[in-house]
Order: sequence, then C-alpha cells, then structure tokens
Amino acid sequence: MTIADDTSQTPEQVADPAPVATTPGGDEWWRSAVIYQIYPRSFADANGDGMGDLAGITARLTALAELGVDAIWLSPFYRSPQRDGGYDVSDYCDVDPIFGTLEDFGRLQERAHELGLRVIVDLVPNHTSSEHAWFEEALAAPEGSRERARYIFRDGRGENGDVPPNNWESVFGGRAWTRTARPDGSPGQWYLHLFDESQPDLDWSNPEVRAEFVRILRFWLDRGVDGFRVDVAHGLVKEEGLPDYAKPLTGGSMGGAGVPLTPEIEAEAAQEPPTPPYWGQEGVHEIYREWRRVLDEYEGDRMLVAEAWVDPLPKLAKWVRPDEMDQAFNFAYLETPWEGPALRRVIADSLSAFGAVGAPSTWVLSNHDVVRHASRLALTAENPQGAGIGPNSDGKPIPDLGIRRARAASLLMLALPGSAYVYQGEDLGLPEVIDLPDEARQDPTWYRTGGERYGRDGCRVPIPWEASAPAYGFSPTGRTWLPQPEEWAELARDAQQGVPGSTLELYRRALELRREHGLGRGAIEWLPGYSEQVVALVVGEVTVVANTGETPVELPAGEVLLSSEPLSEAALPADTTVWLRVSG
Ligand code: GLC
Repeated sequence: MTIADDTSQTPEQVADPAPVATTPGGDEWWRSAVIYQIYPRSFADANGDGMGDLAGITARLTALAELGVDAIWLSPFYRSPQRDGGYDVSDYCDVDPIFGTLEDFGRLQERAHELGLRVIVDLVPNHTSSEHAWFEEALAAPEGSRERARYIFRDGRGENGDVPPNNWESVFGGRAWTRTARPDGSPGQWYLHLFDESQPDLDWSNPEVRAEFVRILRFWLDRGVDGFRVDVAHGLVKEEGLPDYAKPLTGGSMGGAGVPLTPEIEAEAAQEPPTPPYWGQEGVHEIYREWRRVLDEYEGDRMLVAEAWVDPLPKLAKWVRPDEMDQAFNFAYLETPWEGPALRRVIADSLSAFGAVGAPSTWVLSNHDVVRHASRLALTAENPQGAGIGPNSDGKPIPDLGIRRARAASLLMLALPGSAYVYQGEDLGLPEVIDLPDEARQDPTWYRTGGERYGRDGCRVPIPWEASAPAYGFSPTGRTWLPQPEEWAELARDAQQGVPGSTLELYRRALELRREHGLGRGAIEWLPGYSEQVVALVVGEVTVVANTGETPVELPAGEVLLSSEPLSEAALPADTTVWLRVSG
C-alpha cells in the first residue's frame, strides 16, 4: 500500500478500530436501501400554482428510477394549514388539496411500485395542527375535559396564572406555551407546543392518542405504503410533572442534539449528556414497540425510521432495537465536519452502536431542515443547526469549495454499508439559497425569532428540471412558492444528464456501482498507513479513499471506478474521494 506524502502521520492515526461487521440481521430491503427524500412542496408542480403536488411527483418518478434509488420518502402531504410546511397536520388520513387527492396518492404509489421504488410516508405524532378537529374541540371544551386531555393544557403560574407553566422554549424560538382565552374572553389555561404555536403537543400518556395513531398507521399500511418516517421520534413523552429544564433550549433547531463527535466532546459523549424533560424519555420506546407489532402484521418488510435528535449514538441505537424501529437518521454523521479524524470516528461509532442492536447504520448529509451540504461543508463561521444562512449571515460558504467537498462527501457516504438518504436536489449539487427576500420566507423560525434566525427556506427552494423551461421545469406556468436563483439553469437535471463529470452522473454511477458491488451490505476494513486527514477503507472489493486534507495523496495501483474530481496520474487531490479496484 502506498502512503500519503503528508509527514504529520503518527502511530495513533493508524490505530483505527478493527474491522466492523455491519448490516447484521436479515435481508430486508431497507437494510441497504438508498432512500430519496421528496419535499412535495418543491419537487414538481403539475397544476401550475407554484406549489409542488402529487401528480407532479408521479410524472417525474422515472428520473428517480433512472438515478437508481430504492425508495422514496415523502415529507407530509396531508391536510394542513401549512404553517410549518405540512408538519402541522389537520387530518392525517387525507391529502391536502394543494397536493391533490387520495386518488393522486394511489396513482403515485402505484407508479412508484411499478418502477421498483418503495414508498415511505411521514408520520407526525408529536403534535397536530391547531386546526385539527381535536384541538378545535379542546379549545371549545372546559378545563379538565376529555377533549383537553388529548393535549397538554396546564394552568399558568403566578397569582393570575399569567406565568407559563414551566420554562420550556420552542425549538423555533420563543416560549413553548401559549395561553388560551375562555369563551367570555378572559385568559384561560396554557397549552404546550415544542414547535410553533400552531402545533400543539399531544399527550401520549392518553390511551386515546395511542389508539388514534395506530388507526392512522393502519390507514396507510392498508393502502400499501412500505414504511413511515417518524417525525420528532424523541419528543412524544414528556417527563412526569413537566419540570423546568435547568438548561433552557437555545441554538440548534432540534434541541442541540447530534453533537459532532470531535475529540473534545469524546469524553463527554462517553457519559450520557443531560436529557431535557421533553426529549428522549424512556416512555417513547413502549410506543414504538406497539407500532412494531402493528407493522409486523403486514406483509413485505414495512419499516419505521426515526427522526430522533438524540446523542450519543449508543443512546440513539435504543430506537432501533429489534422490537422497535428499523432505522434512525444518523444526525451525528450529518453534523460531522469534513475532517478525517472526526469522520473515521463517527463511521466507526455508528457501525458499532447500531450493529450492537442488530440494526444497519444510516447515513445522511442533507434534508429539508439543514443547510444543504454543498454549502454547509464550506461555511466560514459557526452556523448552529436551524439558523440557516441569509444575506446578513457571518461566514457565508465558499462556493466552489462547497460543491467540491459535497461531491467528495457524497461519494464517501454512498460507499458505506447500511442505508443512505439523499435529499432532493443534492444529486444536482444544489447549494443553499442565501439571498431569498425576507417577504418570501415562510419558515416559522424566521418569524418566531424576529428574523434573528433565517431558518430552513434556503434548502427548500423548488428544484430545477429543465434549463430552458419556465421555473426550470418545476412548474408549467413558471410560478414557484420560493424564487429560484438564476444560476440554477446550469444545474437543471437536463443540463447534467449524460454529461461526464456532472454531479447527477456522479450520483447515478455511484448508485450503479454500489448495487453492482453490494456496498450497502457487509463490512468495512480500515486501511492503515494514511495521514489523519485521509479516510481510507475497503468495502468488499472496493477501496475508498477520501482526502479531506490539503496535500495530494498517492493512490495504490488499480482501476479507478469513480472519482469525485478528475484525477491526474495516481494522486488524489484535496477534497476528493475515489473508489478503486486495487490490483493484485
Ligand atoms: C421535524 C421536521 C421539521 C419540522 C419539525 C416539527 O423535525 O423534520 O421540518 O419542522 O419536525 O414537526
């Protein structure tokens, strides 16, 4: 094996963990699946109103089959006032008219299945919309009523009850409680909302709430969905008595979980970080065990994936014990900087934590809540998760560096055993949109923080399909609910299709090779002898080398299967990943 010409190498740097077996367990499809996230508002608009819809998705599904993904996950398309992009559901068993009808969903699912794509839908159990019939009934009903008991209503503190019941803050900014008014207009009880005030938290200690969500699961399972992505799967159960949180929530959009595994926090991560009284309570597991039993009644490996911002990884692995969910998003991986030591550490920790409970690891770099990784990996200042980037942000990303690192990071991710998530548009190399006009922004974070945090609109801009069509093919009328940047013409899918070296072709070929070489399953073996800024590993017969440093790395002799940048001779430049079949 040839060695990097970086002289900073020390014995510690090669003392990476021993080979780790992964994808334990059976042959269920989701253990190694590449799952493509569709954010319906921004994927494709068939009716021309500027908002994506289900018919638009159906019409574009062949592009995803050609890309080579195994499944799609649809962010919510249910009835919703859209105060939080559909994560505020007013009817879990119907499609919002802006997206179409239940029949449109049936057609979408049928087409997806014809194309060999599984369909995962989003389930939002922590809260409903304030326009859900249950909440409207609760507001109209007296204190202490059965209707109120589905949510978390409490009397205020202080003489007049005008101090909120505790000090919890909303993830989107501001306090997590809103006071109601009695029928005569006088101030009444408060209700809890960990997110926007239009998203009241349900009370999961109430059996009626549990029964209702089993009904909702069955509604979609009966229609043939292949799985559920479970929103805020760490939040459903609150600590008894709703005590004040000693360390109030600040910063990160999801509660500061998912701390990157840097050496500084390594010691801390060995012990469990303090658990806020609303995240990661033990009681959530019983709920998922019940759901597991429901899914197991159905044929065909139906799956559950947890959105749980919980750390450290061994704690997160509790969500995917054999009798609970199947996968959990690996946000520790998403939050890891583009640095060799941190990447090696998080890969090893992920494989061992999930492997210990018989679950595959997942890998994810972007989604609808975070700054797109083509920008995030080249930010020049701290950017707390959920803050977003806007015209006045410090430390804007370095553009060419961002896309270069994103391509390298994606190529590393797609080689790893387990299941990988791809967010719509990352396959086109889309960057975060920074200069959205203030009045176009819709994320509640933007409003609740008085513009202090830009929020997540910049990763939700409608995606480009055809360089010269109106709205780049997103909508036949050219309308878009968020404006698209002019530079996106050259990133449109048709401008990249079949173009050697394009990001689209990089993803397409990576997925083809991943399948051909069975990369999603099996074990990794670390390759010793590289400098600490290099991640070098073998999966099956494929050698993967990612150079996060500045110095070119000499590569072993062999056939280059795929590279995130053009290679000259046998050296791997900075911020580049290569897949090789080593000779001999
Ligand atoms: C999840 C979703 C996010 C939403 C929040 C509240 O984190 O991914 O988009 O705002 O839950 O439902």
